[in-house]
Amino acid sequence: MRPVDIIHKKRNGGINTKEEIEFMVNGYVDGSIPDYQISAWLMAIYFNGMNKEERYYLTMTMRNSGDIIDLSGIEGIKIDKHSTGGVGDKTTLAVGPLVASAGLKVSKLSGRGLGHTGGTIDKLESIPGFKTAISKDEFFKIANEVGMVVAGQTGNIAPADKKLYALRDVTDTVDEISLISASIMSKKLAVNSDGIVLDVKTGSGAFMKNLDDAVALAKSMVEIAELNNRKIVAVVTNMDQPLGEMVGNSLEVWEAIETLKGNGPEDFTELCLELAASMIDLAGIYEYKEARKILEENIKNGKALEIMRKWIKAQGGDERVVDNPEEILPISKNIVEFKAEKSGYVSHIDAEKVGIASMVLGAGRKKKEDEIDYSVGIKVMKKLGAKVEKGDTIALLYVSDKSNVEESLELMKEAYEITDNPPTEHKMKLIYEKIS
Ligand code: URA
Repeated sequence: MRPVDIIHKKRNGGINTKEEIEFMVNGYVDGSIPDYQISAWLMAIYFNGMNKEERYYLTMTMRNSGDIIDLSGIEGIKIDKHSTGGVGDKTTLAVGPLVASAGLKVSKLSGRGLGHTGGTIDKLESIPGFKTAISKDEFFKIANEVGMVVAGQTGNIAPADKKLYALRDVTDTVDEISLISASIMSKKLAVNSDGIVLDVKTGSGAFMKNLDDAVALAKSMVEIAELNNRKIVAVVTNMDQPLGEMVGNSLEVWEAIETLKGNGPEDFTELCLELAASMIDLAGIYEYKEARKILEENIKNGKALEIMRKWIKAQGGDERVVDNPEEILPISKNIVEFKAEKSGYVSHIDAEKVGIASMVLGAGRKKKEDEIDYSVGIKVMKKLGAKVEKGDTIALLYVSDKSNVEESLELMKEAYEITDNPPTEHKMKLIYEKIS
């Protein structure tokens, strides 16, 4: 086989075979095919796409390039949850204890964040004492005994994806559905779960800015999982504004705890219930409607919160955080208000800018080496559709000495649009589609 023939075929709109895809990806990983030929192939895929089978072969070749995580040490059905990411997305922290309260075991390997806010691991490490570097035996033990465990990702999952992603990044071939879906699914299918619930975000704070692209991505990922005999549901959800109210590490943990106490923001609570019920349904424990009833009940009766307490304790964290999050978590007492400059309706929020405004306060990393300040972030007081008067507080900035407050305020100003008319219902809708 010659790379140039495979590139030629794709360039002319042809279909690459399993063997050709394996040849290109494995050749890139072992160094026998140079960057320039893979770049040309990626660009040909960018323009001509891949069919369902090609996407599957690309996914599986990248998946098989690294470790496969075996969860058989955990009893029962294992359902994974994945979000394509957004601002204020702390769903794992609340969904985990929720589904565990209904009998499903949740074991997650998560990463640190690069960009606006920290990843799940960063958020959890804002809880004093919480350890995310745990052994495989501890991981299984906590999952079996508590029903919920999250550890930092170690090992070598889909190294081919890492290498290809770096090349896509510098050749402007990231935003193509085949390549994105294969990239995400290569990492998801590397974990031997029984099923996956995907939260595919769309809007100003999401990777997929428009709904049609998000739906196409969701469908593509569902098809790939099905070819791998994996149960899957994808929920396409709104990221045209931050999820919930809190953006920033400790603040997001605080909000997750309040949500399990029944005091969470409406949108965040609803999304957690939707994802959790979908996971329980996929696992075959209860059907969706019944699952929702049980989950709502487990918020009211405190069962889900108790799982959170046990989980935090099992991973070495200060469990008192569940009773007094504001006191135990490092949350800055230094608060700056962001106020409305005119009266009207909040008609647009650039959620990504809110994320960046939080990052410049210190809540996220610009570079891999940056240290996160857990105590800072943003509380969004006015969301899409809110009526505001000039001078009303739109958001609270939790700042520290090192925070760049002026830059953050400037970004918030750019992020918010206040007009005479409210936004459309569609823009404020939380859940757009469910694909299975
Ligand atoms: N996230 C991924 O993991 N891969 C992509 O290609 C895009 C987003």
